[in-house]
Amino acid sequence: MKISEKVTWIGKIDYDLKQFHGEQLSTDLGSSYNSYLIQDEKTAVIDTVWLPYAEEFMANLEKKIDLTKLDYIIVNHAEPDHSGALPLLVKAAPQAKILCTANGAKSIKGYYHQNWDLKIVKTGDKISLGSCELTFIEAPMLHWPDTMMNFLSGDNILFSNDVFGQHFAHKDLTDENVDNEALYYEAIKYFANIIAPFSKKTLKKIEELRSLDLPISMIAPAHGVIWKKDIKTIVEKYIEWSSAYAINEITIIYDTMYDSTEMLAGAIARGIKNELPDFEVKIFNSAKVSSSDIVTEAFRSKGILVGSPTYNNGILNSTAAILEELKGLSLENKKAGAFGSYGWSPVNTKIISEMLTHCGFDIFAESCKVQWRPAIDALIKAEEFGSAFAKFVNQ
Ligand code: FEO
Repeated sequence: MKISEKVTWIGKIDYDLKQFHGEQLSTDLGSSYNSYLIQDEKTAVIDTVWLPYAEEFMANLEKKIDLTKLDYIIVNHAEPDHSGALPLLVKAAPQAKILCTANGAKSIKGYYHQNWDLKIVKTGDKISLGSCELTFIEAPMLHWPDTMMNFLSGDNILFSNDVFGQHFAHKDLTDENVDNEALYYEAIKYFANIIAPFSKKTLKKIEELRSLDLPISMIAPAHGVIWKKDIKTIVEKYIEWSSAYAINEITIIYDTMYDSTEMLAGAIARGIKNELPDFEVKIFNSAKVSSSDIVTEAFRSKGILVGSPTYNNGILNSTAAILEELKGLSLENKKAGAFGSYGWSPVNTKIISEMLTHCGFDIFAESCKVQWRPAIDALIKAEEFGSAFAKFVNQ
């Protein structure tokens, strides 16, 4: 599908995709692997698709151009969701120059173990394709050390790779006719789960792009829809999300065996609402809800409470897993606390508090723990704990 005078989208819309990064990240609305063909006096292919779709990609591309005349293969990022068809493309177009960053050369070699003649480009380098030019902008750690972006003059398209992406499959390929609420949810979920650890670099890169004063008419990421109708809003959202983002929301994450910890979660939520009626309070059972969606809510929240009963000498798997995931995201500006029931060993809240500390959160000194099953007095205390935590978050 043509997206501008010189650029054709040649990727794959993957409606079937429900898990990404193995089984780590839920992708309820599918995704797309966006690859772009630029046809001017010279031709260039930017990125490819994930390996399962490599043959389909090649068959479609061969119908569009004579690959023995392709001039450039541009590898913006060697993660296999974008480079899966690279071996087939290089084989079909051995004359094409392969352009990547210095770190790209390492990851391409590390994945494909080939002695391809890789040409290294760096920020500010340009290639002329005839009437238009492609400028390279390195973007290390957005999302891997190898990542780069490109700006195409004339059609004025920024190819942003993973940045500004969403796991959002849509036949139209642009943001012009999509459900905005779903689109922005997928955009923030993508940011929270993939880009958040690199927030500071993201902010700097956006400042750098702004300083270049490029006349960008479209941002074409490597996943999801192309930002064409509303570039300004997604850039402003990225600036907000990269800047210690936290709104008036508290997320309560718990797992439970015989409902005791679940009862505490409910009572704590009531206490929070009593203190902060304007705050959104969301409760998630981490054993039942996708961790990627829970992480998204935690990313939005000023406060995060995590609860688990003691299980053997530790805590339940799903709560430990979500805490491990939160630790890897380096979220800023979050206050957190622990709660849970126990039988004879009250180690649960201590373990949770320690794990929350490792997440870099500001920890509430009190925790809420109850032996066996909470009776009415314990539920009242849990509500009081919720109100005290709310004050701590809002101070
Ligand atoms: Fe979509 Fe970092 O690959």
